[in-house]
Amino acid sequence: MANEVNTIGVLTSGGDAPGMNAAIRGVVREALANGKKVKGIRRGYQGLLEEDIMELTRESVSEIIDQGGTFLLTARCAEFRTEEGQKKGAEICRKNGIDGLVVIGGDGSFAGAQKLAAQGINTVGVPGTIDLDIACTEYTIGFDTAVNTAMEAIDKVRDTSTSHERVSIIEVMGRDAGYITLWCGIANGAEDILIPETYDYDEQRIINHIVASRKSGKKHHIIINAEGIGHSTSMARRIEAATGVETRATILGYMQRGGSPTCKDRVYATMMGAMAADLLCDGKTNRVVGYQNGKFQDYDINEALGMNKGVSEYMIHVAKNMSV
Ligand code: ADP
Ligand code: F6P
Repeated sequence: MANEVNTIGVLTSGGDAPGMNAAIRGVVREALANGKKVKGIRRGYQGLLEEDIMELTRESVSEIIDQGGTFLLTARCAEFRTEEGQKKGAEICRKNGIDGLVVIGGDGSFAGAQKLAAQGINTVGVPGTIDLDIACTEYTIGFDTAVNTAMEAIDKVRDTSTSHERVSIIEVMGRDAGYITLWCGIANGAEDILIPETYDYDEQRIINHIVASRKSGKKHHIIINAEGIGHSTSMARRIEAATGVETRATILGYMQRGGSPTCKDRVYATMMGAMAADLLCDGKTNRVVGYQNGKFQDYDINEALGMNKGVSEYMIHVAKNMSV
């Protein structure tokens, strides 16, 4: 068979996400079931270049499906962005008998997988990021857990915010993506949301909204702000000065990336990891696994990286109307 694979490597790269362990387990056990050997690479491409590689057995991935983070560890690696780094990575794969590699991460990690495929190593990407910002898929590993974590935290902030009749600005993760903000905006009944994709920040409009909702008797005003917009603390100071209503900022930060994965993240991550192993066993390379229209599917990495994803205008419209 062309591209026949005997040993499958797996690594996690970029920001960690709850469910990455379930995906690694999916890769390992599906590959073993297909009679392949499996090797784990620690710390993403950095660990590949440092040859931090270990054999994985079915026991190596016992009791991790419920664990947040990634037991293989993750990293960002500047050297791997260079052609020399990519050549070195491919040579280290060959030296260790790794002829197929599953890369669990975001778009950046997929670009790395694409470069390794060009160097002759069969690669398949699995979308792992809490940001949900990968165009070829409606689902990314970790988003479900992270958005539920953020939602529960915002509920708690809202309790104290209502008791004190304060305005609360709550900053959630998403440097370039507003999905957590938008989903929490709807799930938490936020009065305002600020997302990077539709940057139309108009502080006076928010101030007018707060003043109007106070007049109508509302005791809280929740503003969910994406990390990509940022400046929540200074925004709070200015809004308090303009409205005369006590305003506090809460930055949820990294707690959104941790925690035990939800059922959805465990199941989808397992499916995607297993599918990546199956694709490699079928001799496929330069592919990315995705979930679209109710199905797990795979795409050419070049096509996947060329796709665009926008936030749903209709969800934004509904989020606004729910806060009237
Ligand atoms: P994510 O995978 O979550 O998007 P990054 O963009 O930080 O995270 O990418 C993770 C790693 O993937 C980078 O540190 C780098 O090693 C590798 N990478 C990113 N972009 C490229 C690229 N264009 N070519 C080769 N490797 C890349
Ligand atoms: O995991 C996604 C993400 O949380 C983004 O929202 C954010 O921009 C980035 O990771 C920050 O991660 P780090 O500080 O680890 O680079």
